[in-house]
Amino acid sequence: MPEAASPPPLLPPPASASSPAASVLRTRRRRRAWRRPRGLLCWGALVAFFFLMNWWMFSRLQDPATRPRFRLRRHPPRATNSSLSTLEEVNATEKGKRPHPVMLTHLLALAAHALAEADNRPEPKDLWKEPINATLWKPCSDQRDWKASGNISSSEETNGYIIISANGGINQQRVAICNAVTISRLLNATLVIPKFLYSNVWLDKSQFRDIYQEDYFIKYLKPDIRIVKELPLELQSLDLEAIGSLVNDTDVMKEAKPSIYVKKILPILLKNRVVHFVGFGNRLSFDPIPFQLQRLRCRCNFHALRFVHKIQETGALLVERLHGHMPHLSPLQDNLLGHFAGKSIPSGNRNESSKYLAVHLRFEIDMVAYSMCYFGGGKDEEEELEMYRQIHFPALTEIKRTTKLPSAAFLRSEGKCPLAPEEAALMLAAIGFKRRTSIYIAGAEIYGGRHRMAAISRLYPAIVTKETLLSPSELEPFRNFSSQLAALDFIACASADAFAMTDPGSQFSSLVQGYRMYYGGGDLPTLRPNKRRLASILVKNVTIEWKEFETRVNKLIQQTKQVHERPIARSIFRHPRCPECMCRTDN
Ligand SMILES: *[C@@H]1O[C@H](CO)[C@@H](O)[C@H](O)[C@H]1NC(C)=O
Ligand SMILES: *[C@@H]1O[C@H](CO)[C@@H](O)[C@H](O)[C@H]1NC(C)=O
Ligand SMILES: *[C@@H]1O[C@H](CO)[C@@H](O)[C@H](O)[C@H]1NC(C)=O
Ligand SMILES: *[C@@H]1O[C@H](CO)[C@@H](O)[C@H](O)[C@H]1NC(C)=O
Ligand SMILES: *[C@@H]1O[C@H](CO)[C@@H](O)[C@H](O)[C@H]1NC(C)=O
Ligand SMILES: *[C@@H]1O[C@H](CO)[C@@H](O)[C@H](O)[C@H]1NC(C)=O
Ligand SMILES: *[C@@H]1O[C@H](CO)[C@@H](O)[C@H](O)[C@H]1NC(C)=O
Ligand SMILES: *[C@@H]1O[C@H](CO)[C@@H](O)[C@H](O)[C@H]1NC(C)=O
Ligand SMILES: *[C@@H]1O[C@H](CO)[C@@H](O)[C@H](O)[C@H]1NC(C)=O
Repeated sequence: MPEAASPPPLLPPPASASSPAASVLRTRRRRRAWRRPRGLLCWGALVAFFFLMNWWMFSRLQDPATRPRFRLRRHPPRATNSSLSTLEEVNATEKGKRPHPVMLTHLLALAAHALAEADNRPEPKDLWKEPINATLWKPCSDQRDWKASGNISSSEETNGYIIISANGGINQQRVAICNAVTISRLLNATLVIPKFLYSNVWLDKSQFRDIYQEDYFIKYLKPDIRIVKELPLELQSLDLEAIGSLVNDTDVMKEAKPSIYVKKILPILLKNRVVHFVGFGNRLSFDPIPFQLQRLRCRCNFHALRFVHKIQETGALLVERLHGHMPHLSPLQDNLLGHFAGKSIPSGNRNESSKYLAVHLRFEIDMVAYSMCYFGGGKDEEEELEMYRQIHFPALTEIKRTTKLPSAAFLRSEGKCPLAPEEAALMLAAIGFKRRTSIYIAGAEIYGGRHRMAAISRLYPAIVTKETLLSPSELEPFRNFSSQLAALDFIACASADAFAMTDPGSQFSSLVQGYRMYYGGGDLPTLRPNKRRLASILVKNVTIEWKEFETRVNKLIQQTKQVHERPIARSIFRHPRCPECMCRTDN
């Protein structure tokens, strides 16, 4: 039933996800009226819509590792320690095309020079550090206090069963799972182990038990809610659609308040004893929500979900190879890798620990095309991206054809463009990362392939990916499973000594950032450049001196490093520094 209920993806990922924006899109496509917009008002509305889509796309577009179309290769990666092996494959698929030009060549030359000079100088003091105030926050969502609201799970009583079919990739699913846990508690319902919708865009059949330890999940949350693996037999034969137990996105709005669930869903639950949320995702508000429920949601995300042994074991291998030693047992490693962390290894193999930086370079062709930005590739690039848009984002092509949209230069100046590899490299060089820094790139199929990556790998030769760190046979069990590959990227990025986001919005980066805040003890910094301000610096690329560039970029990074409490209504998965999830120790 759940699978059948998922709509076939007519549009590519962003639009095929059954989200309100997608339905807006569909409705708009159906309505022909907006084809000939008249007057400024219409233009304004369309531009606003475009920005909305743009924002939505950055936050919802699948993370690279969950996009098998660009990720799964026909040929297995070669067993090579060349940091560019994956990029060579990209090159192979781009035969006959001219190489993509790289932007900012002048600044890149300055950066190369500066990096060579800085080799013997000490690193900036706080390069791998968070501000001191970060250490004041300690994880505490594992503490339960249900006394005030009474015990429910201890009793066998239940108002009914909640089933969810989560859409999206692994990161959206994770959010959906924890929302479902919270709603189950709210409604005194029993949760059936969440199902993941199969989409022929993401092509991953993985279900909950293929990614997370099912028994651990059930046991860990036992004091909070009752979780069962299957619906009771007598309920399995019900036609949920006919009795009105099927709930989709139209019925429950995005980020709905808990009261909506009590008002709309509880009566169905009490009447039919079962409710199935189809295409469930980001359906529960972050504020207002009772303290203990919010804490439960955090507990689910940071404590109850553990990767299966297969993922943990290979994740541990990755981290071991990145650090040059086995990850030691810390709360973070315990949660990520379980008993595969800290396994004693012969001391002969142990060597100096080395630090590494992880970068989530969200610069695949889908992101590049959707952004409508220009990346210095001339006519070739424009034609290629336009072609891609026509095939994959027809609605966008339509808007573009009928409306005057903001120019690429305007979008760039507004910070709406994903960072190209060369821009990311310049930022890292300005911050003070040495040339020999090991850099782990999550999601490696960069638009422009080898040539584009050459810019960054000339500055930073020690670039690695999971494909270069793992042998083909180690990678083989994951090959057909984009979500599981994404889990490996998650482990490598969460364990990194520093993590740089080049895409302020994606769910992957958000979850990694939150995870690092929660478990990092103030030691796992995340760099989040303000892209608008970065753009205002980069636009001076031809005239700016390296020293000034360095100073300005550092100022910008310092500002984003500040430690503050979660702003209201922001995601607790991304900003766990709030009393429900973490406790301040200074008062
Ligand atoms: C990879 O490393 C091994 C041992 O360090 C070396 O023998 C081999 O030639 C390297 N392969 C490539 C393609 O560089
Ligand atoms: C990449 O492609 C170019 C042009 O097609 C070719 O000359 C070059 O040898 C390729 N590089 C690799 C590593 O395959
Ligand atoms: C850090 O904490 C100190 C006192 O604990 C406070 O004065 C200071 O404003 C805090 N800084 C930030 C950036 O929160
Ligand atoms: C909740 O359960 C615990 C033990 O599981 C018990 O000690 C406590 O008294 C119960 N509280 C209420 C309000 O029933
Ligand atoms: C859930 O159970 C608690 C304790 O028995 C009760 O106070 C609360 O009203 C119940 N909520 C619902 C929605 O049934
Ligand atoms: C959602 O359910 C409503 C009825 O509850 C139905 O009219 C609507 O078509 C459904 N939407 C989708 C996308 O399935
Ligand atoms: C770790 O040890 C291996 C051999 O035991 C050596 O080749 C490698 O360079 C060492 N790595 C570091 C980071 O020291
Ligand atoms: C992946 O899929 C291919 C073809 O669909 C199949 O031959 C192969 O055995 C699969 N590999 C794994 C590890 O499931
Ligand atoms: C680099 O500088 C030139 C000239 O000022 C400008 O036109 C271009 O947009 C800049 N490039 C970037 C990526 O900002």
